[in-house]
Order: sequence, then C-alpha cells, then structure tokens
Amino acid sequence: MSVKIRLGIIGGGGDSLIGILHRVASSMFDKYEISGGVFNPNFEDNMLFANKLGLNEDRVYKDFDTFIAEEIKLPIAKRIQVVSVLTPNFLHFPMVNALLQNGFHVICEKPMTTTYKEAKTLYATLQKAKTVFAVTYTYTGYPMVRQMREMILNGEIGNVQKIDAQYYQGWINPIIHDKEQRASTWRLNPEKSGISCCIGDIGTHAFNMLEYVSGVKIESILADLNHVYDDNPMDVDGTILLRASNNVKGVICASQIATGEENSFVVKVYGDKAGLKWEQENPNYLYLMEDGKPLQVLKPGHVYNSKLSLDGTKLPAGHPEGIFDSMGNIYKGIARAINKEPYNAGEFPTIIDGIRGMDFIRKAVASHKKQNVWVAIDEH
Ligand SMILES: NC(=O)c1ccc[n+]([C@@H]2O[C@H](COP(=O)([O-])OP(=O)(O)OC[C@H]3O[C@@H](n4cnc5c(N)ncnc54)[C@H](O)[C@@H]3O)[C@@H](O)[C@H]2O)c1
Repeated sequence: MSVKIRLGIIGGGGDSLIGILHRVASSMFDKYEISGGVFNPNFEDNMLFANKLGLNEDRVYKDFDTFIAEEIKLPIAKRIQVVSVLTPNFLHFPMVNALLQNGFHVICEKPMTTTYKEAKTLYATLQKAKTVFAVTYTYTGYPMVRQMREMILNGEIGNVQKIDAQYYQGWINPIIHDKEQRASTWRLNPEKSGISCCIGDIGTHAFNMLEYVSGVKIESILADLNHVYDDNPMDVDGTILLRASNNVKGVICASQIATGEENSFVVKVYGDKAGLKWEQENPNYLYLMEDGKPLQVLKPGHVYNSKLSLDGTKLPAGHPEGIFDSMGNIYKGIARAINKEPYNAGEFPTIIDGIRGMDFIRKAVASHKKQNVWVAIDEH
C-alpha cells in the first residue's frame, strides 16, 4: 500500500495560474499523491483536466460539497488526508472552514480569506480540528530566503535596525486602463478578492517575508494606496511605512502598475553589523553587505549554509533553485507535520501568518482611508 499522503486539490485547474506550481511542488519529494479533487466549477472541464492528470474518475467530484460528502464516506485509510485550496480568494474561507470541520489537513493559498473576521473564525475552527494548516507564502521556501532567516536569527548581521521590501509587478497596467477589463477581472472585484487588490495579493507576501526573515514583528503601519481610477474600488499600488519593536522602522512598496516589471520582489534587512539582500528574480544569490568589506554572494548547496537552507537543496551547488523548488520545500515541511515528524518552524507559514496577513491588509486600507494615519497591527 502507498505510504504517500493522499492529496486533494480544489481549484487550480488547467486554466489557472497557480495550479501547476502546487502539483509540481507536491510531487517533488515523493511525499504526496494527488488522489482527487474539484479543479473547475464546470464538471466537463473538471473531468477533462482530471483525465489529463490520469486521476481515478471516482475521486473527481462535481463540486466542493460533493467532494466532502463523498470523501468522508470512505474509510480513513483511503480518504484524502490533505486538501490544497487554490480557488479565487472568496472561496478560501467557506472551503477551508468546512474542510477543517471535517478533519482534513489544509494547504490554503494566500490571502488566507477575504476578511480578518473570517481569518479569526478559521483560527477557532483549527483549534478544534487539531489538523495541520498551512498558508502558502511561496517565497519563504527558497533556500537563500531560509538562509537569510537563519543568519539573522543567529545574530550574524547584529541587531536589526531597518527592514525594506519592494514587490513590483506591471501585469495589471493594460487591464486598469481598459474600463471594461477593469470591471470584469475577479482580482478587482471586492466580493471575490477582498478589500484590496495589490496589498492583498503581493503586499501580504512582502509583510510576511519581512517578518519571516527578520524575526521582527511589525507593530503599526501607515499606508498610501493608489486606485488610479475613481471607478476602480481596489488599490493597484501602495507605499506602506512600518514601525516595529526596538525602534526598527521600514517600508513596503508594492505595485501592479510598475510598467514592465515582472515579479520583482526584493527584500532587504539591515542590522548594525551587516545587511542582507535577496531578489526573487535572482533567487540563488543572497548578498551579504558589511562596512569596509567586499560584497559577499552566498549561494545554495554549500556547507556554509544552515541546515534549514540545505534541507531545501536537492542537487549539488551550481544547480539553480527556483519557484517550484521553493513551493516544494513548503510541501515537504507540511508532509513532515502531517506525518508527525520533527520539523523547523521556518518550514511552512501557519494560520498565525495568515491572520497577520489579513490584519495587515485591513489596516493598510484603513490607514489609507483615514488619510494616511498610523494604525496598529493586532498582536497574534
Ligand atoms: N502564492 C503565490 O505566490 C500565488 C500566486 C498566484 C496566485 N495565488 C493565489 O492563488 C489563488 C488562485 O489564483 P490563480 O491566479 O490561480 O487564479 P485563477 O483565476 O487563475 O484560477 C482559479 C482556479 O480555480 C478554479 N475554480 C474557481 N471556482 C471554483 C470552484 N467553485 N470549485 C473548484 N474550482 C474552482 C478555476 O476554474 C481555476 O482553475 C488566489 O487566492 C491567489 O491569490 C498565489
């Protein structure tokens, strides 16, 4: 009998952006097998796609409710154990809540929900369910991001004194300037996306990443957002000042109208001894900057890297690690948690990261609406 974890997938069909990342990531360390799911709300497309993946048709369900109803009838040894929820944002909460209530482990795409209230409800449900829950802030799985975290945790840059993340994309530029298109994409529809587009989609990555690598907790923020058009209900750009403990201050700049930019996510943390810089479009380089010394470039797979970083490197140094590897490392950590094996707290983002992300979104929007005032982030 297979010892792999039985994985179900909701959303992430052939027409989706993120589905392939999860499918490849789940296969990377031979820990999971995709056992079934609902890949598309249209049953014909759903089945066509499932056939392409070679899945057993009995486990491809017509909709989410049928998925749960049929799966829980199966003996535990056959039942899907963990479900990846890869649908548009507004479906995360009802689906994840029902999955947890029915005893499934869950891997949820970010942003975790569309409101903070939903995020808190999920937290309460999870306390009762006692299953494993992860939210996929994908970039935290990169070996050199993990190295950055470990070096800072070990005091290698001294006391953190400044944090800075810039996440620039340009993809919404043609959509935002077309009245019809900006009214029809789900990402600019608050009912489907939540109250924020840019900050909800990529600003949350930046917020989570800064806390992940620096160990600093952001305590309050001041946001200036841009909707570009008055008929557009959602931000597509924002600059957010940050205040954290120990007089650490910083900034998050996020944009989907940074024309020509692809996925330029740059993270910088400066301590009183050294600075570290990482760029998503060149993820195999971690730059170590020190006063009066030449720039050092650290790379994956070398003995000088931490155990957590090396755990995510599959081939000898010189074989670049990319976004698929990063998500693969997150899936690997989740598999350890499901199998009740020991794991490092840095291996996958948790419900607390999801809640803090949702609080960050609502506080950014509140700060902007109140004409750019400081707003506190709740303690979690
Ligand atoms: N971690 C990351 O870096 C990252 C990157 C991109 C997207 N995302 C997140 O992933 C999620 C999906 O984004 P996307 O860009 O892939 O969206 P998408 O619109 O490209 O794909 C959504 C998929 O969900 C399916 N779907 C919709 N309703 C469904 C339902 N009721 N039942 C089953 N399937 C359904 C669609 O058919 C489609 O296959 C979003 O929450 C987004 O924020 C995360």
